[in-house]
Amino acid sequence: MKTKILVFNWKMNPSSLLEAKKLAKISDKKNVVICSPFLFLNEVKENIKNAEIGAQNVSWVNPSTDGGAYTGEISCLMLEKNKCKYVIVGHSERRFALKESDVEINKKIKEIISLKLKPILCIGSDKKDKRSEKEMESQIKKALIGVKISEIKNIVIAYEPVWAISTNKQSSPAVPEDAKKAEIFIRKILIKLFNEKEALRVKIIYGGSVDSKNIKNFIEINGISGVLVGGASLKEEEIKKMLKNR
Ligand code: PGA
Repeated sequence: MKTKILVFNWKMNPSSLLEAKKLAKISDKKNVVICSPFLFLNEVKENIKNAEIGAQNVSWVNPSTDGGAYTGEISCLMLEKNKCKYVIVGHSERRFALKESDVEINKKIKEIISLKLKPILCIGSDKKDKRSEKEMESQIKKALIGVKISEIKNIVIAYEPVWAISTNKQSSPAVPEDAKKAEIFIRKILIKLFNEKEALRVKIIYGGSVDSKNIKNFIEINGISGVLVGGASLKEEEIKKMLKNR
């Protein structure tokens, strides 16, 4: 079985550098991507040897053509020069709570790819019926406008049904069958947009209430390349168990 990746999305946590360093050290294993807040990225990097670092967001502005006058933003160039490898894009919390649009997501994806970073494109609906497939199809198509066939293999797609994310009210974890169904669906769209060979090279991961108890069930799915973990990636015991149980 190919090694699967674990993406730890700390979201707007922890509140201190001390805690961030502690979490980083515990999580420091191969095939782990630690997506820390920008504030801690450099220190996290200095405290790990095996894991990679990722950002949770980025600006779509290209400083070499558009200059640097964008207060509060972080560019892909800054991430690339600071040894960041991955960037989460289009997380549902940004799409829904922060009103990030498909157009912005697409611009970010293109900028990320142009700097040879890897986007982790999150897609997923808050619906559980047929409408969710339409929504996901639209999210994928709009996010990948203008992406070249040679670039698609560098994109990780995270299937994150909004109803399965642990912090959402009345969330209910997905079952492995949901993840497998979504993986097949996503690949079908990628085949239509690109071709079968390239579509099969895209890493598709699952996210939503993954913890030490269910991680194996998702990771063992053929076609699923790993998991994206939120809440459990902030808990010491959970991290240790997840790394052991994967
Ligand atoms: P969760 O978060 O693991 O806490 O459900 C996942 C995510 O939102 O990326």
